[in-house]
Amino acid sequence: MRISALTLHNFRNYRRQELVFGPAVNVLAGQNGQGKTNVLESVFFLLTGKSPRIRQEKELVTWGEDTLYLSGDFTARERRLTVECVYREPRRAVRLNGAPCRRTSDYVGLINAVLFTPDDLDIVKRSPQERRRFIDFLICQSKPAHIGALNQYHKALKQKSALLRRGRDSGGETRALLRSWNEQLTAAGTRIISHRTEYAVKLQRECQAIFSLIFAADRRVDLTYFSLGRRLPAEEPPDLAAVFAERMEQEIEKKAVLVGPHRDDILISVDAKPAKVFASQGQQRALVLSLKLAEMELCRKEKGEYPLLLLDDVLSELDAARRGFLLEYIAAPGMQTLITMTEREESISGKNAVFYRIEEGRAWRE
Ligand SMILES: Nc1ncnc2c1ncn2[C@@H]1O[C@H](COP(=O)(O)OP(=O)(O)OP(=O)(O)O)[C@@H](O)[C@H]1O
Ligand SMILES: [Mg+2]
Repeated sequence: MRISALTLHNFRNYRRQELVFGPAVNVLAGQNGQGKTNVLESVFFLLTGKSPRIRQEKELVTWGEDTLYLSGDFTARERRLTVECVYREPRRAVRLNGAPCRRTSDYVGLINAVLFTPDDLDIVKRSPQERRRFIDFLICQSKPAHIGALNQYHKALKQKSALLRRGRDSGGETRALLRSWNEQLTAAGTRIISHRTEYAVKLQRECQAIFSLIFAADRRVDLTYFSLGRRLPAEEPPDLAAVFAERMEQEIEKKAVLVGPHRDDILISVDAKPAKVFASQGQQRALVLSLKLAEMELCRKEKGEYPLLLLDDVLSELDAARRGFLLEYIAAPGMQTLITMTEREESISGKNAVFYRIEEGRAWRE
């Protein structure tokens, strides 16, 4: 999958900008605070409707303006696709080849992108929520049914949680309603667990292969999916209906939802030791990079093409050997990368790369 051109109007610090990309490595170089990350963010937002650094979409509109416009020309499986996005609070409108998209699922997943930012270290270092978000996003890109299951689950979860919080009725009505929400949570949750199990195994395989290339071949990476206290797929998946029924009285008493796959985690370990606690800073970085490249390889296997790779500030975090590995890796045929850096990395030149210099919300091709 490729992006050939991008237009930004009133997006962050870009007033009006057009960029034309090459099919291989595209470097966005410039000093701090000039607008390098903003370009990657605009591409990711255009393709997914999401950005990891915003709370509200209106943060993306240039200060003092009210409407942003983005347009990108892409190729995916030999189809040329133009995606346009107009955002004016509170509404985002997306067009695909000129036709309005009514639902996000009309365009998300057609063109895939893998974004790596320094904050992705949180996947290894921080709470289970980061790891769930990572794997769920990855599954949604290949399996639209996962989006439906997550939506259904979270809708029911919200209702169940509101019901428990109200908690005045100790009679039969609350229990009958709880049973009905639990049924919905069981149906959606069982699907979520099964998708996550499948993808944790696939991800582990890819991640192990890449980690061995970055580090010594004998280092072992394990991703163990824990769902309601069970290791999957080694153990039997949890029987959600039974667990929910068992915990019902306790949940009524505590006025809160106490169990479910919304609390699952993926334990990441290197040589059987939890990476969050024992891996060095550099190993954690290389681990996150392996996870992201694994996401990309998985996407390639499922879609038959590499997704766009958006790498933000990745080089500054790696030592010379790891930088060399990465630059070699992204030179693979069929892979297109947009990579930001503060200094022009000389080793990239001569590899068909396109260079943009970024300054105060403007980009020049060099
Ligand atoms: N909504 C907005 N309107 C106008 N400018 C904005 C908006 N949001 C952010 N900016 C500005 O965009 C600038 C560039 O941001 P960006 O994160 O792309 O920088 P960068 O080149 O990646 O820098 P660094 O090397 O530090 O990561 C910042 O100076 C910020 O103040
Ligand atoms: Mg940046």
